[in-house]
Amino acid sequence: MTLVAKIFNVLGWRRSMKPKTPAAALLEWYDVHRRALPWRAPAGGRADPYRVWLSEIMLQQTTVAAVGPYFEKFTTRWPHVAALAGARDEEILAAWAGLGYYARARNLVACARRLAADGFPESEEGWRALPGVGPYTAAAVAAIAYDLPATVVDSNVERVVARLMAIETPLPAAKPEIRAAAARLSPRERPGDYAQAMMDLGATICTPASPACGRCPLAPFCVARARGIAAGLPRRAPRLARPERVGAVFVARRKDGAALVRTRPARGLLGGMSEFPGSDWSDAPVGVEAAPLKLDWRAVGPVRHVFTHFALTLDVFVAEAPGTAKPPPRARWVAADALAREALPSLMRKVARLAGL
Ligand code: ADE
Repeated sequence: MTLVAKIFNVLGWRRSMKPKTPAAALLEWYDVHRRALPWRAPAGGRADPYRVWLSEIMLQQTTVAAVGPYFEKFTTRWPHVAALAGARDEEILAAWAGLGYYARARNLVACARRLAADGFPESEEGWRALPGVGPYTAAAVAAIAYDLPATVVDSNVERVVARLMAIETPLPAAKPEIRAAAARLSPRERPGDYAQAMMDLGATICTPASPACGRCPLAPFCVARARGIAAGLPRRAPRLARPERVGAVFVARRKDGAALVRTRPARGLLGGMSEFPGSDWSDAPVGVEAAPLKLDWRAVGPVRHVFTHFALTLDVFVAEAPGTAKPPPRARWVAADALAREALPSLMRKVARLAGL
């Protein structure tokens, strides 16, 4: 540091001087504006790898706000990996229900058992070899929990980098170019803080529709801002329309409140989760002929749910079943007070609500 810089520093004017690199500017900003998140270590501390791994799995495709209560629930119930590894699959799936993308929950269980048996890897490649851990998660855990230099690129970082370097190629074709730029920008010092600083900047300042460039620590370096095109980046190739599927779902209830439920096949969409029996989901509408029991079915309206690869509209039917009704193959009666412990995905929770459960 020069003598002049030292004097400015002592006088507390350091922040008014432009740092030499985007990474340095970002880290200075992070030291003041970092978000307090439940899985984060306090400033200067080292985060618990179990909490970092768990949070990163939960945060894939899900917002920080949605993850918060689930993270608290999981870490209270299973404070370390041995506890999670010892839990039953159904318990974990039921605790996960509502977070979506249920393959993640099944991989979480498999990964917890590997971590409990073999210990936590201390390299990015070691993490990459675990179930449910892709390149993003391996890099994030290596950087955040072990402070290893790793290029962490999620959709927030993609946006920040595309703007900073004014990368105008549309996504997804721009991914390799953005990744290479992100790697060049990543510092060797404080990689964990840097990764989290990029995420925080993307979530709070460099937001998709209206970036707050006036408050951005990277504004002096940002090529898109200089060209007046920041809000329009990253560009995206037009999305293909999602196919529409339809079907029917049947909520049978006994007088004692028990409801008819079945478990979906272990593999595939919503694998291993619970559901109310229903038809296949296809492009042809179906009615009560698809019901699991012959009852006096009453239509209560449609439920809509958008999955990654298709949108679904289910017609919901309800009926009262006699106490003697035998569950059809693969289905079972679940007592009213046990329904909350079922691994009902968001779609089926919407169905339950509409059916008055
Ligand atoms: N999104 C994904 N991982 C995150 C993290 N560690 N902090 C903040 N936002 C995130």
